[in-house]
Amino acid sequence: MCGIIGYIGQNKALPVLLDGLRRLEYRGYDSAGVAVCDGQEIITVKAVGKIVELDKKISLENKSLQGNVGIAHTRWATHGKPSLENAHPHCGCKQEIWLAHNGIIENYAELKKLLEKKGHKFLSETDTEVIAHLIEENYKDDLKIALQKSLKLLKGAYGIVVMHAKEPDTILAVKKGSPLLVGLGDKETIIASDVSAIIRYTDKIVYLEDNEIVKVNKAGFKIFNSDYEEISKEIKKVEIDKNEIEKSGFPHFMLKEIFEQPKTITDSVRGRLVLSEGKVKLGGLESVQEKLREINRIIIVGCGTAYNAGLVGEYMLEEYANIPVEVEYASEFRYRKPILDKNTAVLAISQSGETADTLAAIKEAKEKGVLTLGIINSVGSTIAREVDAGIYNHAGPEISVASTKAFTSQVIILALLTVFLGRQRQMSFITGKRIVEEIENLPNKINKILKQEKDIKKIAKKYYKSKNFAFLGRKYNEPLAFEGALKLKELSYIHAEGFPSGEMKHGPIAMIDKNFPSLFICPQDSVYEKNISNIEEIKSRSGKVITTATVGDENIKNISDQVIYIPKSLEMLTPILAVIPLQLFSYYMAVLNNRDVDKPRNLAKSVTVE
Ligand code: G6P
Repeated sequence: MCGIIGYIGQNKALPVLLDGLRRLEYRGYDSAGVAVCDGQEIITVKAVGKIVELDKKISLENKSLQGNVGIAHTRWATHGKPSLENAHPHCGCKQEIWLAHNGIIENYAELKKLLEKKGHKFLSETDTEVIAHLIEENYKDDLKIALQKSLKLLKGAYGIVVMHAKEPDTILAVKKGSPLLVGLGDKETIIASDVSAIIRYTDKIVYLEDNEIVKVNKAGFKIFNSDYEEISKEIKKVEIDKNEIEKSGFPHFMLKEIFEQPKTITDSVRGRLVLSEGKVKLGGLESVQEKLREINRIIIVGCGTAYNAGLVGEYMLEEYANIPVEVEYASEFRYRKPILDKNTAVLAISQSGETADTLAAIKEAKEKGVLTLGIINSVGSTIAREVDAGIYNHAGPEISVASTKAFTSQVIILALLTVFLGRQRQMSFITGKRIVEEIENLPNKINKILKQEKDIKKIAKKYYKSKNFAFLGRKYNEPLAFEGALKLKELSYIHAEGFPSGEMKHGPIAMIDKNFPSLFICPQDSVYEKNISNIEEIKSRSGKVITTATVGDENIKNISDQVIYIPKSLEMLTPILAVIPLQLFSYYMAVLNNRDVDKPRNLAKSVTVE
């Protein structure tokens, strides 16, 4: 949440900062700002809205932003509305210290009072401004010492980049509970909250751990631990194909990512299927392989789309691996009293690997001494490093705020995990082989669904003015009802709700009339007839119905207003196919409503605050 970047090197800082902000924009986009030091003074420009507004403002104001040192920020508001005053970077009273911050300072009100008593005047409503004034209060002649002193008083989570006009060729950065990394380029160093802002310039990355401070100047960088001793850290080489962070001819990242799914599914399972043994190989679980035999309960934690993927996993793991599973919102798990024993494993699902609630849930589980596992897309992310063992998705960077390819990749990894754990238990070779074989067929089947893009767009044209929508499904596709509704509301701001089809009659059906359409996920599976009855119930109340059905199911046309067909698959894998029409439908509903598809209002991709 929020994106931060800092640059120091032989080139002009501004282009790198702006390019970085555009890459980080998915983390928050309600206001943005840059601060550049030209060797004498620090000049700032801020704007409300997306980075393009900042671009315009920079051209309009015509300030000299020519320096080689600078910091920048794109904001997702937590404390204070999106406004110029609240946009980062923030400064102290003397306007010498400038900083950008990601996270939340929990004791900011208390610190603000204290600083006000000492004469500090605040210009914004943010928690961040308190940090700037605090460092100013502690500053004598060394920014690092002032920062160290200030950190002792801060409670909460932060990633901070800071500079001081009197130390014009230095940037300091520190993190606690919020991601921050340092990219080491050719005579330039870039600090950012996300690798996507750095990857164009270098693939050499140092990941900062909590409480580590990095001091960067033109000569290089030094890292200090929480005792402020200098330490050396491993330089990692990141492997991201630069094309993965471009739109490659698609109008939106979301559409590109939807169409990438045949490939991302292939990438997620590459080298992991052992067809001849009806097994899967998961290198990331090798170290805990024997421990996993003892596990008799799994709690899956996640947020948003990752949570919905977890619900599909619950059906899979219970049916095929015979392991009882509970799926919990990470934000709830962290504050309840979970009953955990040594045979319970807590599994986090997270695309970014940075979601604050999911991270806190894992920390809570570790505190209780249970085995922690992860299904994480972002390599080297905080949750990936925190869990005892895990499986990477290898789905590539997901830029669109609304998650698509990460979802299908999470579900396929859950299927792999099901076979892995199932084969450790009672799952037969034949069952394992059947699942593994069908997993290999999925990319082709997804391609067939993608070919119906135009038909799905036509359906969206009929419904895009709707004010409400219900999504309904049963068993493996019940979580898809939630995911479909989530996609529609987050992208098009149309009110949408997902229900298990069987629950409609217990209340929600009261809302149905000719203006309240429903989308049923109704493949020919073990609950097909039950779903059909539920469709009839909607039809007899004049509700319009779109169905996603199995190819060849002609009868369903009689009770549906529109049908989208998906190829037949194993019941447990159907969600991976059935979600594709839902993604395309939501995409076109948003496009037709002129929404900002890749950056829906009020949202952010990586939610690093509670
Ligand atoms: C945000 C995003 C969602 C995502 C959720 C969890 O709310 O907008 O698309 O599903 O965070 O993110 P994670 O990175 O943990 O999967």
